[in-house]
Amino acid sequence: MAVRASPYADELVQTAKTIASPGRGILATDETNGTCGKKLASIGLENTEANRLAYRTLLVSAPGLGQYISGVILFEETLYQSTADGKKITDILVEQGIVPGIKVDKGLAPLAGSNNELWCRGLDGLASREAAYYQAGARFAKWRTVLSIPNGPSELAVKEAACGLARYAAISQDNGLVPIVEPEILLDGEHGIERTFEVALKVWAETFYYMAENNVMLEGILLKPSMVTPGAECEDKATPEQVASYSRKLLHRRVPPAVPGIMFLSGGQSEVEATQNLNAINQTPHPWHVSFSFARALQNTCLKTWAGRPENVKAAHDALLLRAKANSLAQLGKYTS
Ligand code: 13P
Repeated sequence: MAVRASPYADELVQTAKTIASPGRGILATDETNGTCGKKLASIGLENTEANRLAYRTLLVSAPGLGQYISGVILFEETLYQSTADGKKITDILVEQGIVPGIKVDKGLAPLAGSNNELWCRGLDGLASREAAYYQAGARFAKWRTVLSIPNGPSELAVKEAACGLARYAAISQDNGLVPIVEPEILLDGEHGIERTFEVALKVWAETFYYMAENNVMLEGILLKPSMVTPGAECEDKATPEQVASYSRKLLHRRVPPAVPGIMFLSGGQSEVEATQNLNAINQTPHPWHVSFSFARALQNTCLKTWAGRPENVKAAHDALLLRAKANSLAQLGKYTS
């Protein structure tokens, strides 16, 4: 039986290719209001809409950002905001050749019947929300679910994560948004790198199985995997070469070459560590564009440098551009510290 193609098929392929362009990656700025509030509190600012807008304006208006950044993930609030001088945030991005994206999941909730694990909500009403996001200028979407190694992950949690991601991906493609497929395997735990690798193989096998069941067009998706590392509390630390070797092996075993781009998350690694690992992964050629979709590993120093003060904007921009450039070089396998 022939499968109906998304009316947006050609556009999805083009959008994914634009995001997966050489030397560029994604800046994630889609923290929920709660998480953004914690970031603002760390520099002594109140969690108000005006302060969230000021911080997001700072990030997207770094001069020349588009040289290193091909996509920015926004939270719903930001998608509809304009800067203090009346310019839409989405227009600032498009003018720099950056594709606006949108977080569409509704966050995590306890997964009943599991080992204290979580599932990701947001499928109800997703199609109509995404149609509105497309009208507002978004061209790609993100759905982040998580798996915990210390808590399992149980068969139930893996299956739930994979089914949810696959349904979200199909609905996004029907509404013109390239889905970023993100089953984050959390860093927490004492486990070694082998265990992370084994879990990642299982998670990605299930995710691709359900994407096939849902007729997801692989040429029009992007993946956002965790790098394969030991648990954060593991005594055996891994070198960038070890992380790269396991991460490459994972991709080669699980990801068809039809997928245009792999955009790794930083997941709590330090800024430099995330760059070094990405650079090591890119020391050999791949069938896909292998790049970054970082929040913390691009924002941390920028946020501290800004500290909410207008006189620090230039220095904060420099801090963001320094990390963006380093990760751009790492995408090309040419980063040297
Ligand atoms: P980190 O790079 O801070 O892990 O965030 C990426 C992201 O968007 C998580 O969904």
